[in-house]
Amino acid sequence: MSTEQFFEQVLSVRMTEDRKALDIIDQTLLPGTIRRIRLETKEAIWEAIKKLRVRGAPAIGVSAAYGMAVLAAQFTADDYGAFYKEFVALKEYFASSRPTAVNLFWALNRMDDCCRKAGEEGKSLDEIKELLFREADAICEEDVQISRSIGEIGFGLLKDLKKDGKPIGILTHCNAGTLATAKYGTATAPMYIALEHGWKGSDMHVYCDETRPLLQGARLTSFELNSAGITTTVQCDNMASLLMRSGKIDIIFVGCDRVAANGDTANKIGTSGVAILAKHYGIPFYVCAPSSTIDLKTPHGGQIPIEMREPDEVTQMWYKERMAPEGVDVFNPAFDVTDHNLITGMITEKGLCTDPYGEAFARAGIQ
Ligand code: MRU
Repeated sequence: MSTEQFFEQVLSVRMTEDRKALDIIDQTLLPGTIRRIRLETKEAIWEAIKKLRVRGAPAIGVSAAYGMAVLAAQFTADDYGAFYKEFVALKEYFASSRPTAVNLFWALNRMDDCCRKAGEEGKSLDEIKELLFREADAICEEDVQISRSIGEIGFGLLKDLKKDGKPIGILTHCNAGTLATAKYGTATAPMYIALEHGWKGSDMHVYCDETRPLLQGARLTSFELNSAGITTTVQCDNMASLLMRSGKIDIIFVGCDRVAANGDTANKIGTSGVAILAKHYGIPFYVCAPSSTIDLKTPHGGQIPIEMREPDEVTQMWYKERMAPEGVDVFNPAFDVTDHNLITGMITEKGLCTDPYGEAFARAGIQ
């Protein structure tokens, strides 16, 4: 399979040709079953985001944008006031699905801005509906370009590490891959771009943290990279320390769900532990951050809302029988915050930013 065919096969989200539904790959079934499902109602789209059928910060944003466009096109209101009221209610409904990834709110706000601007300009409801489709397409297409740019910068870092005859050891956590975006992923983009530049899959050896409790690293990242022909190893999260100590890891790339103005970064639970280990072992730790994930309105990581999820994901979900006593209390945050001073650099589509991040973001034109 060519890399392009592979990207097509695992495309996280698109709009159906009839523009009446979303077409997603159900990520909860991977890697065993590759099944695309059609989401036609607001409840189905909300449930798919909540249950991680579609997941990863940029893919959630793209899904919400297409969801707004598809459903707004079916509103029956015949004046702008009634249309906009329904639009805002839908926006708030989608915004209640997951709290941490800022891309969701960013995409919803872009759709809202598009709708209001068109309303102020006196456009007809049919024109507004068409403009909403175009805005959702733009959000999706921009995400492809953003991941590509992040990949080119990350590939530059990989080139600097290339040693004769030895694969570069890369560690990643969770899935910030194709499945989490509109095409290249963010943390995986440097690897896919390396393939485009003629590198062999065996020039890199990617170690995927399994990523408890929902196993995005084992189920999704290793599936993706393995399918793309990149040498891939899966290890449990608590094995990363030994791996780093062994000298096998040259560089770490992770994604992010929300970056605060000072560079503190929320990403999948366990990421901050990886960063602390990386600092201890002197391994460069890079966050791959589309500017849509940088939230300058949140001054520091302590103010990032952290999603708490159901206890069953820890005690039961992957086991034949329950693996903790009935009734025991469970701590299940979906994300943690990595302090900015543990991050070697933040790869944005506008350039590589380093601490102090506030100044670096401003210099890169990230507002
Ligand atoms: O709970 P998830 O699977 O949506 O969490 C995803 C992550 O933490 C990713 O690393 C992040 O969204 C970046 S995706 C490019």
